[in-house]
Amino acid sequence: SAAEKGGYDYFMLKEIAEQPKAVADTLLGRIDAGGALLLDEVRIPAAELREVDKVVIVACGTAYHAGLIAKYAIEHWTRIPCETELASEFRYRDPILDHRTLVIAISQSGETMDTLMALRHAREQGARVLAICNTNGSTIPRESDAVLYTHAGPEVAVASTKAFLTQLVACYLVALYLGQVRGTKWGDEVRSVVHDLARIAREVEEVLETMEPVRELARSLADQNTVLFLGRHVGYPVALEGALKLKELAYMHAEGFAAGELKHGPIALIEKDVPVVVVVPSPRGRSVLHDKIVSNIQEIRARGARTIVIAERGDEAVRPYADHLVEIPVTPVLLQPLVATVPLQVFACELATARGNEVDQPRNLAKSVTVE
Ligand code: AGP
Repeated sequence: SAAEKGGYDYFMLKEIAEQPKAVADTLLGRIDAGGALLLDEVRIPAAELREVDKVVIVACGTAYHAGLIAKYAIEHWTRIPCETELASEFRYRDPILDHRTLVIAISQSGETMDTLMALRHAREQGARVLAICNTNGSTIPRESDAVLYTHAGPEVAVASTKAFLTQLVACYLVALYLGQVRGTKWGDEVRSVVHDLARIAREVEEVLETMEPVRELARSLADQNTVLFLGRHVGYPVALEGALKLKELAYMHAEGFAAGELKHGPIALIEKDVPVVVVVPSPRGRSVLHDKIVSNIQEIRARGARTIVIAERGDEAVRPYADHLVEIPVTPVLLQPLVATVPLQVFACELATARGNEVDQPRNLAKSVTVE
């Protein structure tokens, strides 16, 4: 009913708008005033976490994209090797796991069969399993050794939005916590990340307040057949997520690529007027990445693509090559997905509406996939 949708036309719009609160709620009570992580609820003894020599993340769809981003954070902040794998592929390739492996299963519903089967397989091999889940008492957390709940509140729309942002927050918390219990020497970078996490809900809100041009752009693209998405580093999974949202909602051909892969094949797809969304990493810090993506944008634009550039506020270098520029707040490099994904959600939702599609219940899809 209209009341359930809180005055919005669709649950998806309501859930997109709820993201600042979802993010804040997921952080609530989990970091103390001194910047220490308070995650006693993760009931895997610190002694066991200190023994972990490999992290494997399993998930499907949007939750898998959160896991891909988590890999960058876990490896960079803790120096523990981490791999992220589609749950549906994981157990069929005879993965190498033992009691020193920490498996993280990410699932909004807690009922996804592929993810459940992956975690059962992991436990049979002796691995510890930590679930990141949004649904209290669901099967995945019940069958795991420990759980960190995301506090997104119920997500009704089939396309995942606020659950994704809170999965990212939970992944960052786990990465920081692993570093904390293992006594990883934290530099100023990690200290400032903890500080910046506290501000991120406000920044997501800022993004939401500036989305009208993105909606307008989406409406103008309603007749396109294809949209491509490019990113590097943590922007690459963001590109994959942008493409997935567009497929499931707008029923358009959409593909996400690592920008560095362009010249290895996908650049052949670039022709006149093809919209290409580019997620640009911060020009600060890892500026090598930034320079490389600027030249990727130049390459595709030279071939006639219509460039839709998502870049940090104040990034002047990309401006001359952007047919459409979407500015996002300045964040630490690893946290950028929390703000960069939001315009892509709004874009897909508006495009779907413009094409007359059912936003909350896309064809052929179920909210949780309880078969393998
Ligand atoms: C996201 O928009 C999708 N509908 C889908 O990919 C989803 O994220 C996936 O099926 C995993 O679901 P889960 O988080 O409930 O396990």
